[in-house]
Amino acid sequence: MKAAILSDIHSNLEALQIVIKDIKRRRIKSILCLGDLVGYGANPNECVELTMKEAKIVVAGNHDWAALEKTDISTFNPIAADAIRWTKENINKTRLNQLNRLKFTATVDNLLLVHATPETPEQWKYVFSLEEFKQQFQFFKTQLCFVGHSHIPGAVFQDANGYTDLVGDNPFPLIESRRYIVNVGSVGQPRDFDPRATYAIYDGNKHAVEIVRLNYNIPRAQQKILDAGLPEVLAERLLAGR
Ligand SMILES: [Fe+2]
Repeated sequence: MKAAILSDIHSNLEALQIVIKDIKRRRIKSILCLGDLVGYGANPNECVELTMKEAKIVVAGNHDWAALEKTDISTFNPIAADAIRWTKENINKTRLNQLNRLKFTATVDNLLLVHATPETPEQWKYVFSLEEFKQQFQFFKTQLCFVGHSHIPGAVFQDANGYTDLVGDNPFPLIESRRYIVNVGSVGQPRDFDPRATYAIYDGNKHAVEIVRLNYNIPRAQQKILDAGLPEVLAERLLAGR
């Protein structure tokens, strides 16, 4: 199986369109999505519609759940909470119903798909350090686990002896005796100081994973955020990539 895995679109239609175009150019048939379709950006309806049309599997993210009032936004920072209130006012029932049907996890072949952590998908925990990644390996059995949530792309492996480390290369080969957690980064709001839209390609035939970065029309996405009356800082951070 060859699949494109994307996450954290966050209502950024300009970024999502570029990513889907790139996936089609590469003739990849399977698109898998790790959630956070909405929140922050100006096109929630369009992003839910396009993602649900193109992706074979979509799991839920915390912002999707917040738009549905299934996650308490008191844990969100004030700007994220503002964006959720805006999203609730601007998203239509059809798209909300689609979000409401999403599950927390999905397994395809030897891949586990989850927005935050395999340990407690519904608690939206953040995993940043190597030690935190190391703990997560005990909570899934597949060779690979793909996550999003932090908006920071990267991969960690664990060998048969429990030795855990960062994967340094991109693209990188999958070694049979190792298991992997891959953060696919964010389509619509990267936070690793690289503002380009991000997604991952899993190639089960060539046993490899690649993180892909793409330029997109950031000024247009920014202008839409400003025109929508969303917090200005949400436009600024798209260019800053943080
Ligand atoms: Fe997110």
